[in-house]
Amino acid sequence: QPEQRVGEFIASVDCGTTSTRFIVFDEHARIITEHQTEFEQILPHAGWHEHDPEALVDAMRECINRAMYKLEFLGWHKDSVKGIGITNQRETTVCWSRSTGRPLCNAIVWDDTRTVATVRQMEDKLDLEGFEVEDGKGGWTTKVKGKDALVDVTGIPLSTYFSAIKLRWMLDHYPDVHEAQENGDLMVGTVDTWLVYNLTGGVNGGLHIIDVTNASRTLLLDLKTLKWHKGLIKFFGFDENVLPKIVSSAEVYGAIADSMDSSLTGVPIAGIAGDQQAALVGNKCLRSGEAKNTYGTGSFVLFNTGEDIVRSNNGLITTVAYQPGPGAKPAYALEGSIAVAGSAIKWLRDQINLIEQSSEMDMLAGSVKDTGGVYFVTAFAGLLAPYWDRTATGTIIGLTSYTTSAHIARATLEAVCFQSRAVLDVIESESGVKLDTLKVDGGVTNSDLAMQIQANIGGFKVCRPSMRESTALGSALLAGHALGLFGWDVTRPETLSKVNTADAQYFEPKISARQRAKMIRGWERAVTRAREWHE
Ligand code: G3P
Repeated sequence: QPEQRVGEFIASVDCGTTSTRFIVFDEHARIITEHQTEFEQILPHAGWHEHDPEALVDAMRECINRAMYKLEFLGWHKDSVKGIGITNQRETTVCWSRSTGRPLCNAIVWDDTRTVATVRQMEDKLDLEGFEVEDGKGGWTTKVKGKDALVDVTGIPLSTYFSAIKLRWMLDHYPDVHEAQENGDLMVGTVDTWLVYNLTGGVNGGLHIIDVTNASRTLLLDLKTLKWHKGLIKFFGFDENVLPKIVSSAEVYGAIADSMDSSLTGVPIAGIAGDQQAALVGNKCLRSGEAKNTYGTGSFVLFNTGEDIVRSNNGLITTVAYQPGPGAKPAYALEGSIAVAGSAIKWLRDQINLIEQSSEMDMLAGSVKDTGGVYFVTAFAGLLAPYWDRTATGTIIGLTSYTTSAHIARATLEAVCFQSRAVLDVIESESGVKLDTLKVDGGVTNSDLAMQIQANIGGFKVCRPSMRESTALGSALLAGHALGLFGWDVTRPETLSKVNTADAQYFEPKISARQRAKMIRGWERAVTRAREWHE
């Protein structure tokens, strides 16, 4: 065996909604090697979506081991990986036992809507009783009531989407979870928490931490102080000791333990961010006023607002973008979350059998010049931003005997572009910044047609980098920042000028403003029809 070279690389575990990947990057963000694996989607009832937490750990282990095998096969010594970052599907909630380290139930995934009744109960409680706020002197002031008070603290509304609602549901419906909280045996976290716990030893001393970006999706974080809000913890009926410790997005948290049985034992874990925030960093939207859209399972537009906590009056949420070190000033973002993007293509493939492979979408949708008047409002789990309507259902409208599968395929691609445009419209009107170029990444961006449709419907340029693993890159950049690798400093974007710069592709709008306005009018009418279907 030839001698192995020792390089300097940084790697990332990216656990998304449908698959996990482990990617090893060099200092220019070139991918040295990677491995990706899908895990099971558990859909027990309509609207329910679960993951087996142990399957998430197995997928991570498999990705690390296979990618490290490939790295060594390429002639690189395992010590070339200097650190790893973690990025994850957000909001998905995991409960496990402190004494065994084993899950107490399946994780409830972010787009699961079983908790509609819990949301209603908590809405009533919020209106009638409200929640306590500290007076800053160790005491409590009178309770504050109503949904605005909650959004004021957390930046997000009561919705099936966020973690506290999922945890409340688990405590109410799973006796094991309830008992574990009573007995002090319950540990709770988002997917980053669960993965880091397992990476660092699990029941044998694994860390119980959550980074601020993931914490900002729980309904329990005070956006201003970046601490758990004690009044909200009480309001939801949780014991504070079930929650993880909040940490920044870039610091050395701990090292990979022996128990992972990987060649990365001892390698520091140095960056954590929820996947959409990581994509913002990976797309280098590090200055106030820069925006990206990631088209994954869902689609998420994030607009960096710098140190300002900007509130939206039109359906966007306020979230922590990243905190580049303990005690460092955080950057915030406005976010427009769209629940369904790539998952609609998957639905056409797996449930409707319209295509055999996702890669056929472009050919099918591109075989017609428009949708022939068809609109597809892909509201499989209600509508999130900017509509926030849990009563909306998936709706295909405008069908005639002329309609073919190609029109429906094209309408599916258009759906995510219309929703992204609606979100960006709000961002533009609330920030006063006219968006010239939207940076994009995620699986759907492999489709040239989808990106051209986005430019047409949006009326702005779309910039697609050649290396589109921005999510993984973002957490690697945060880890590199914390470790002082390659001179990377996310607070000084100029230090990243050589990162992922090669061959970005631009898509320019190719339709008239009049045509665009007509299409958008049709879309908004279709949305009206999709709403208020469920009671
Ligand atoms: O908020 C949910 C989001 O983090 C999921 O991302 O990429 O798995 O669709 P993705």
